Amino acid sequence: MERRFDGSRVVVTGGARGIGACIAARFAAEGAQVAVLDRLAEAGSQCASGLGGRFHAVDLADPVAAREATEAAIEGLGGVDVLVASAGIFRLVPLLDITPEAWDEMLAVNARAVLVSMQVAARSMIAAGAGGSIITIASMAAKKGGAREGHYAASKAAVVALTRAAALEWGEHGVRVNALCPGYILTEMGAATRTEEDVRRWSSWSPLGRTGTPEDVAGVAAFLASPDGAYLTGQAINITGGMVMH
Ligand SMILES: NC(=O)c1ccc[n+]([C@@H]2O[C@H](COP(=O)([O-])OP(=O)(O)OC[C@H]3O[C@@H](n4cnc5c(N)ncnc54)[C@H](O)[C@@H]3O)[C@@H](O)[C@H]2O)c1
Repeated sequence: MERRFDGSRVVVTGGARGIGACIAARFAAEGAQVAVLDRLAEAGSQCASGLGGRFHAVDLADPVAAREATEAAIEGLGGVDVLVASAGIFRLVPLLDITPEAWDEMLAVNARAVLVSMQVAARSMIAAGAGGSIITIASMAAKKGGAREGHYAASKAAVVALTRAAALEWGEHGVRVNALCPGYILTEMGAATRTEEDVRRWSSWSPLGRTGTPEDVAGVAAFLASPDGAYLTGQAINITGGMVMH
């Protein structure tokens, strides 16, 4: 394993499990100091302490708590070079059944909390004057939608739009902002409704013939934050095994 992030300070939201945990582990393995934010206190503190990092328990749906926890994480690290906003929720609901409450919950976690953590990280990066990399986790749903995923897809399209706006506004400070758009990654997200037949069908939609892994996403996150990603900003990068090509 290369050590491209020796001395780097990395904040990962939603890092207690799944894609976020894998990304935190990848940065730590390459030398970074990591701070993990999540509402799952036990899993989050285990994950962070296993990586020699810090854990901050927070419900990111609360914008004040989200701001304070992100500020505390950055203060604990003595600054921030990389923010990965991975926390998210997923619900399968037909469009006709989406209530205002369900909409608000989805957007509060998947979009507003991403904005809040980006704002806190960017303020710190701009003040420090050394640039930085912000990586948001959107979804292929932002580009192709999905039946019974209306409010989820809308929240992820919002993440892509926020990512592009931030890239335009913060580029002059050397802050690069990119979104990852994963396809089907087999984590606990959606596991309750996922069948073996689903996995077979999804695999067949990829020219590579398989679904994705958290490691597939973590490798791209590390590339984006590394010097090899230096001329990438405002991108929404598909990690779908070729299922989405635009
Ligand atoms: N798994 C997939 O197929 C897939 C595909 C595309 C995009 N994504 C996106 O990737 C990201 C990570 O998903 P995952 O598959 O690792 O899911 P996951 O459910 O395994 O992990 C999500 C993490 O976010 C945390 N979280 C959720 N709501 C929170 C809140 N209000 N406050 C604090 N923490 C909260 C959870 O506790 C959990 O640790 C999400 O944004 C998801 O939408 C996942």
